[in-house]
Amino acid sequence: MAQDDNSGVDLVAADSSHAEQEFAGSTGTAVIPRDAFENPGFEPHRPRVTDENPKREKRAQRTVYTLFYLSILGSVWAIAAYMLFPMESNDVGAVRLNNMFVGIGVTLALLGIGFGAVHWGKSLMTSAESIDIRHPISSTPATQQGAVEVMRQADEESGFSRRTVIRNSLIGALLAFPLPAVVLFRGLAPQDQLPVELLSHTMWRRGTRLTLDPSGTPIKASDVTIGSAFHVVPEGLAELEHGKLEEKAKAAVLLMRLEPSQLNPAPGREDWAYDGIVAYSKICTHVGCPVALYEQHTHHLLCPCHQSQFDVSNNCEVIFGPAKRALPQLPIAVDDEGYLVAQSDFNEPVGPSFWERH
Ligand code: FES
Repeated sequence: MAQDDNSGVDLVAADSSHAEQEFAGSTGTAVIPRDAFENPGFEPHRPRVTDENPKREKRAQRTVYTLFYLSILGSVWAIAAYMLFPMESNDVGAVRLNNMFVGIGVTLALLGIGFGAVHWGKSLMTSAESIDIRHPISSTPATQQGAVEVMRQADEESGFSRRTVIRNSLIGALLAFPLPAVVLFRGLAPQDQLPVELLSHTMWRRGTRLTLDPSGTPIKASDVTIGSAFHVVPEGLAELEHGKLEEKAKAAVLLMRLEPSQLNPAPGREDWAYDGIVAYSKICTHVGCPVALYEQHTHHLLCPCHQSQFDVSNNCEVIFGPAKRALPQLPIAVDDEGYLVAQSDFNEPVGPSFWERH
């Protein structure tokens, strides 16, 4: 008998009778180590108090059906409470009472069933251990061969391989079937505008004032203190008659002020900030969630959806997470009255990185 060099356990050849019992299939040249531990088997069965004492059994029985009756009571009470405490519109007190009493009934109903079932299982149902032998889950070669034969027969009887015109036309029909969905998808955007164009531009124009979201109050540069962050939308958004939400979803901006010396603008962006005030798209470049968390000390923006982080000091480049490109920057300046305004639209589409492919 061989011994494993590392473990010292006894090894037996794969063709021994032990291996034949363990594995129905061929083990090839595999070497099977003997099980180092004896199967301890089951501990002797220990009867419960309810198995031996008829009084305790009766008591457990009473407990179980009492719990189930309580559950019925809870259900009936929930229905009664719904009618006894009606929800009146504009009456918050009535809604609360209704929710509370219906909730108590439903809770009682569910707890009664749950506790009753558990108590029944633990104290009255048989507790004897038994072994359920696992069977190999792979089919026998004969079954596999049978399956192949069924498929071959189905092919033969349907003529799928033989009748090539029918087969190919079916494949064509299946390929054509999703096309209406593409047309319907196109219908989501206005017919007189190109969807890609729509997604590539926002409401921001040269001279559009930055306003607070949601009040729409224009923001003066002097109001933005160092370390502060504002949620911003373009002036005029509230007055839009159609598509207000769609425009907001593209144009939302985060405004922050740092010490000017803490900013490292990319070449060509030197005048996109105003005295340390910078504005970046709030729409995450991963899958479009709002990047709503600003960490003042590190100057990092965090997207709560999948934890992408952007470094405001360095052009909002991605420093962590699944986003693949920096947040687009909105070039800003101040007008004659000291209000912050956009110099132009974003210089690239906002939102998920897909649009970077254009
Ligand atoms: S949407 Fe922002 S990290 Fe995924």
